Amino acid sequence: MDWGKKNRLSQIIKPDTGRTVMLAVDHGYFLGPTHKLEVPEETITPLLPYADALMLTRGVLRNCVSPETSVPIVLRVSGGSSIIGDDLSNEGITTSMEDAVRLNVAAVALSIFVGSDYEQQTLMNLAIIVDMAEEYGIPVLAVTAVGKELGKRDERFLSLSCRIAAEQGASFVKTYYCEDFEKVVGSCPVPVVIAGGPKLETELDSFKLAHSAIQKGAKGVDFGRNIWQNPNPIGMIKAIRAIVHENASPEDAQRIYDENK
Ligand code: 5RP
Repeated sequence: MDWGKKNRLSQIIKPDTGRTVMLAVDHGYFLGPTHKLEVPEETITPLLPYADALMLTRGVLRNCVSPETSVPIVLRVSGGSSIIGDDLSNEGITTSMEDAVRLNVAAVALSIFVGSDYEQQTLMNLAIIVDMAEEYGIPVLAVTAVGKELGKRDERFLSLSCRIAAEQGASFVKTYYCEDFEKVVGSCPVPVVIAGGPKLETELDSFKLAHSAIQKGAKGVDFGRNIWQNPNPIGMIKAIRAIVHENASPEDAQRIYDENK
């Protein structure tokens, strides 16, 4: 791997543990001012010291995050549809690589919608972004989006999506946890991180999700709502960090959460 690309990826996936706790705050790109992210700066700033990387759009980065931060940025560069539009999977490329370079990002991220009407378009978006990003040694994170109509979040679908993303040149892939998750990781030749999805009922559910994914080979998490929609977001991210970087059990994580209330 080119030195610059490897160096950027090492800023995100920490070399001492080989894992990462990414904080996803990109939801507004199709959800608008979603719950607890109405004023992004208020949500993001207290969590920054605990995030190995921050995933967001250029608008929130420029307006709501201090340029003095040392947290590596994973810039979302796909979008173009909204929650009230016809089809969420109809995404294009929203940001040039020159702007990503101006923003000094550690990686760019883009969604692919395998199995949707826009499968080919979004896979071609990925191919184009990989070509553009390789010019500058910037890693690409492919997000294997799952819409209601896109089939189940099962091992076959997620293995298919992750593998296709890696084949198209993604440097790492973000997907969902599922039963037999080790097969998803085992058939994907690049690192896999998991999304949290909508807020789960209890903290322990989130800790179990992160723990199972890590034990089955995920290189980390890219959690959003299960951290910042929790009433104790700092307790959440500290507990998740212990699972990811110290192999803490879900019960240990619960203790860390409780101690940080
Ligand atoms: C949306 C995304 C989000 O960043 C992703 O879903 C992670 O956030 P959450 O843990 O809230 O699901 O990529 O396409």
